[in-house]
Amino acid sequence: MAELAVIGAGYVGLTSAACLARLGNSVVCVDNDPSKVDYLLAGEVGIAEPGLPELVREGLSSGKLTFTTSLDPLRGIGMVMLCLPTPMAADGHADLSVLESVLGSLGDLLGRDGVVVLKSTVPVGTAERAAELLCRADVQVVGNPEFLREGFAVEDFLHPDRIVVGAADQEAGDRVAALYASTGAPVLRTDPASAELAKYASNAFLAMKVSYVNVLAELCERLGAEVAEVAAVMGLDDRIGPAFLSPGPGWGGSCLPKDTSALLRTAEHAGIDFAMLRDAVRANARQQAVIVRKIRCAVTGSASGSLAGARIGLLGLTFKAGTGDLRHSPALAIADELARAGAVLTGYDPGVTGRDKVGPVTVAGDPTLVAKEADAIVVLTEWPEFRDLDWAQLAAVAARPVLVDTRNLLDARALAGTPFLRTGVGTGKPG
Ligand code: UGA
Repeated sequence: MAELAVIGAGYVGLTSAACLARLGNSVVCVDNDPSKVDYLLAGEVGIAEPGLPELVREGLSSGKLTFTTSLDPLRGIGMVMLCLPTPMAADGHADLSVLESVLGSLGDLLGRDGVVVLKSTVPVGTAERAAELLCRADVQVVGNPEFLREGFAVEDFLHPDRIVVGAADQEAGDRVAALYASTGAPVLRTDPASAELAKYASNAFLAMKVSYVNVLAELCERLGAEVAEVAAVMGLDDRIGPAFLSPGPGWGGSCLPKDTSALLRTAEHAGIDFAMLRDAVRANARQQAVIVRKIRCAVTGSASGSLAGARIGLLGLTFKAGTGDLRHSPALAIADELARAGAVLTGYDPGVTGRDKVGPVTVAGDPTLVAKEADAIVVLTEWPEFRDLDWAQLAAVAARPVLVDTRNLLDARALAGTPFLRTGVGTGKPG
């Protein structure tokens, strides 16, 4: 029998299952989608995570990893790790219905002194509530949040900065910590509530850091300063660090928007006014309006000019580079706003294939088609390969050589010898 079951084969569950098998654990991964289980058993992964297909195939052939749709083979199992979606409900809370329904069936399945590990991002108090739902005095619930970035999930899992184990019971916590022993990462032992809060606190802090630099970028533009220079100075202070200081179209994805919103609700519920987090969320929504204004100015020469009929080519549609994920993508929020203003949009993204349309954007298979007859090209996602495009050729096919670089991706070298007039973010100097 497997030592450990991972329930949910999304990007967190599948990465966890495959990596835990690599770390020497025997893992059965359960997902209720039969077609997904079929392709996983055939060694196909279906998500773009570097290194993951290789790890899945390695686990299948060593016998350390298997997949199933049914909870039945888990009868008597000692440990179950839950990697289930906790999406944002309409009121901003985390929706725990999937998690609660699975917990409802685990009580009868777990072996004596079993452990349920909460890997999903869950609000404070969920471990306690899960213990109630299980109705098993001998079973312990342990919080063990993940800190995986999309596009780097395998790397982050196998070489983590820290492992968090939130357990009320010492022995149950030891069993969870042992899963990660061979990573050599520091293990922080906490109570379950602190583990749950630490995940939200980390994501919310990252979101606030990006909102901070985005507002600084606006200030730089007004004051004639350079945000890259300001961020470089800040980043060399060990207490601040250089990460998450790149301005852009705002933070998005499946985690930061959901987790900031859930933490705000949690704080509200606890009677705490988390004003600085609320402001960071507002600044993020406003950032999209800031970028649209920038595009409007670049295309029409005025902050109130009309975009009706303007042809705008978008480079990048995903919420960040290195992923095909379009969920809560700031690029799409900006595209929606441009379409509402009457612009005609074509877009290219290396992570988005096999689609003709994404929202109001007609998807092209090639950046040259995006540039063709465009009144402006807008870089919305920081794919490094955009730096190596033949910008002279893009200028030759565009109607006008107007470029809005919302990620400050392209430097003078990339555009040398082209007629492009570039507008960046947070630069007080002309492009
Ligand atoms: C985030 C966290 O970074 C992970 O630690 C966490 O485990 C994960 O959420 C999760 O909760 O599962 P991810 O959603 O993959 O990871 O994305 P990030 O790399 O954090 O980027 C978030 C957003 O911030 C993106 O839209 C990105 O473009 C933006 N960003 C990031 C900036 O605009 N500027 C920066 O300097 C950094």
